[in-house]
Amino acid sequence: MRCPKWLPFICTIFILLAMKLCIDWSSDDLLPQSELHRSKSEWKLSAMNKLSFMGTERDFLEDDRYRTLLLNLSQELRNKIPVVDAYWNRKQHEMFQRLESGANISMSCSANRDVTKEIRNFDSYPDLYKQFLLYSNCHQFPLVINQPKKCAGNQIFLLLAIKSMPQNFINRQVVRETWGKETAYGNLWVRRVFLLGMEKGDFDPNLQHLLLFEGQRFQDILQWDFHDSFFNLTLKDNLFLKWTTKYCPDAHFIFKGDDDIFANTMAIVNYLHSLTYPVAKALYMGHIVSNAVPFRERKSKYYIPESYYSGPYPAYAGGGGFIFTGHLAKWLYLVSYYIVFYPIDDVYIGLCFNALGIEPLAHAKFQTFDIAAKNRDNACSHKTLLLVHQRSPQQTLRLWKLLHDPTLSC
Ligand SMILES: *[C@@H]1O[C@H](CO)[C@@H](O)[C@H](O)[C@H]1NC(C)=O
Ligand SMILES: *[C@@H]1O[C@H](CO)[C@@H](O)[C@H](O)[C@H]1NC(C)=O
Ligand SMILES: *[C@@H]1O[C@H](CO)[C@@H](O)[C@H](O)[C@H]1NC(C)=O
Repeated sequence: MRCPKWLPFICTIFILLAMKLCIDWSSDDLLPQSELHRSKSEWKLSAMNKLSFMGTERDFLEDDRYRTLLLNLSQELRNKIPVVDAYWNRKQHEMFQRLESGANISMSCSANRDVTKEIRNFDSYPDLYKQFLLYSNCHQFPLVINQPKKCAGNQIFLLLAIKSMPQNFINRQVVRETWGKETAYGNLWVRRVFLLGMEKGDFDPNLQHLLLFEGQRFQDILQWDFHDSFFNLTLKDNLFLKWTTKYCPDAHFIFKGDDDIFANTMAIVNYLHSLTYPVAKALYMGHIVSNAVPFRERKSKYYIPESYYSGPYPAYAGGGGFIFTGHLAKWLYLVSYYIVFYPIDDVYIGLCFNALGIEPLAHAKFQTFDIAAKNRDNACSHKTLLLVHQRSPQQTLRLWKLLHDPTLSC
């Protein structure tokens, strides 16, 4: 039997059409992730860039242009937070309503006794939790040690902001001698600050003279007058964002991390320098924790009672170390007025980014849950990593020396 002459022609057309459809359907997957990121955030960025912020917080809170933009941006988060009876969920939905109506935001620093009645089983909460809930409306604490000139002079490419605690002298010194060096990589300047609260326990020794000296000697200590504790880390983040808005608004990128990590600063700088403009303009990058839910075991450090928060967490970058675009610090600070403080700091920052409509970008070289145990002392396994948690001060010094040894061969 002979085929009609037109059959191959028709077949070719069909095959081409099918291929075209296939490409259209999967084009989202074919785009590199950073390009997807770019198209989604473009209008938000230009809207943000149009609003420059000069005045005080009050000026901002009473300016309808910020409010309407934040109202628009936070719509997705609003839809994500379950409307249920849990305390945080209820308070947050009240906040969204305030954002909508333009009602005043309270900035009271007195103990919020209402919470003892608003949470049905408040009495059964752990003591530190009660402390957190009673005082979490208060966001204003004075700086005790400041570095007002930290970002003066050279344009800062990367500001390293490292959460520390008053007694962690050794950790800070190792960071100074290793990945936290204040130096320029090419012409890209890196600067460092440590973020501290104070020792306020009844049986805490007084370290203040030593810290004052340390601050003068190294010019890298920021300290605020609040009790430095795990549940006050969200407060610490918030005070740092406020500080950055005032004293370091032009840093290109900000790295926020712990003082017990190992970071490969040169690799981080090179990576950030290689980013295309739209990605670099709205970056929130690290080890991304997606679909996480609150820990419900009372013994866990991260325990969250059912009556406090309900629902999964929006994706967030693990707090051991993550990076974001410097000019977003101001926006995070502003939007934080409308996001109820949360006892876990990295979840809170994730909520704030979510409220700005900025999605986190995962980077496989951020290992906040550490690498395989057998490789933890192996310099070669750290060569291409950007960050790993956690390392002792001595391990960090050793790894740093090995990695900078010209005879190292991997
Ligand atoms: C937010 O603003 C953008 C751009 O103007 C618009 O396309 C979008 O529909 C708005 N979203 C909401 C929820 O108002
Ligand atoms: C908000 O508070 C300020 C001063 O605290 C006051 O001047 C202003 O009228 C208040 N605005 C609203 C909408 O209540
Ligand atoms: C946070 O710091 C404030 C001010 O020092 C203090 O009143 C509060 O109890 C602290 N909260 C926690 C949970 O430690």
